[in-house]
Amino acid sequence: MIELTLIGIGTGNPGHLTLQAIDAMNAADLVLIPLKGAEKSDLAGLRRTLCETHLRTPGPRVVDFALPVREAENPSYRQGVDDWHDAIAAAWEREIRAQIGTGGRVALLVWGDPSLYDSTLRIAARLARVMPVTTRVIPGITAVQALCAAHAIPLNEIGAPVMITTGRRLRDDGWPEGAETVVVMLDGGCAFTTLAPEGVTIWWGAFVGMAEEVLHAGPLAEVGPEILATRAAARAAHGWIMDIYLLRRS
Ligand SMILES: C[S@@+](CC[C@H](N)C(=O)[O-])C[C@H]1O[C@@H](n2cnc3c(N)ncnc32)[C@H](O)[C@@H]1O
Repeated sequence: MIELTLIGIGTGNPGHLTLQAIDAMNAADLVLIPLKGAEKSDLAGLRRTLCETHLRTPGPRVVDFALPVREAENPSYRQGVDDWHDAIAAAWEREIRAQIGTGGRVALLVWGDPSLYDSTLRIAARLARVMPVTTRVIPGITAVQALCAAHAIPLNEIGAPVMITTGRRLRDDGWPEGAETVVVMLDGGCAFTTLAPEGVTIWWGAFVGMAEEVLHAGPLAEVGPEILATRAAARAAHGWIMDIYLLRRS
């Protein structure tokens, strides 16, 4: 039986790692580190640093593997994602069988928390179809929490709900009906520019919690253009960017 532990590591600040996460890393026989895309050296580098800092000797084997790339040209987005998840599960299976066979403890270090805009749990379910696997999760600090902490703001208004959505949904569907607070993630291109800015306040952050962190906050009409410029500059400087923002309409 493979005991798979998905460990939330927070959003790029080594201090986000919890004591529970460190214990789970040390209890593993194998830690798999995905290498992916443009940001691969930075993100894999952080995972490597966490291992070097916190793994005691003799510790688990730490093994890099190439994360399969999603075929963007698949006409069906959903099918493309399904195929991609199958390919990742197959890559995990190959590495696990090669490194420890079909019995042992495997850890994956998941950005933020595995429950939020992350498919690691869905991929684990695929792996469980081809080999005996039990899955457990160690929670991590999400980008939503990191953003609220960085700006020292509450996520919700008193007794009020919160909507968490993607840049694509905000761009395609507009301001979510009935929502007062909207958190936007996975935004490849400043979807807030498609909104009527009157009465909207934005709290924006890129690389939140990391050494490269940049923050802006204020009325959307005023700070929107600043965010566009800052985002473009940060993206050019680093070659990639991760940003998140909270919008509140009064
Ligand atoms: C695939 S999702 C992963 C979310 C992650 N599981 C979490 O718990 O936050 C990636 C998105 O999370 C947000 N994100 C993650 N880390 C971030 C950071 N350090 N700064 C800003 N946004 C971040 C961005 O919106 C990014 O597009």
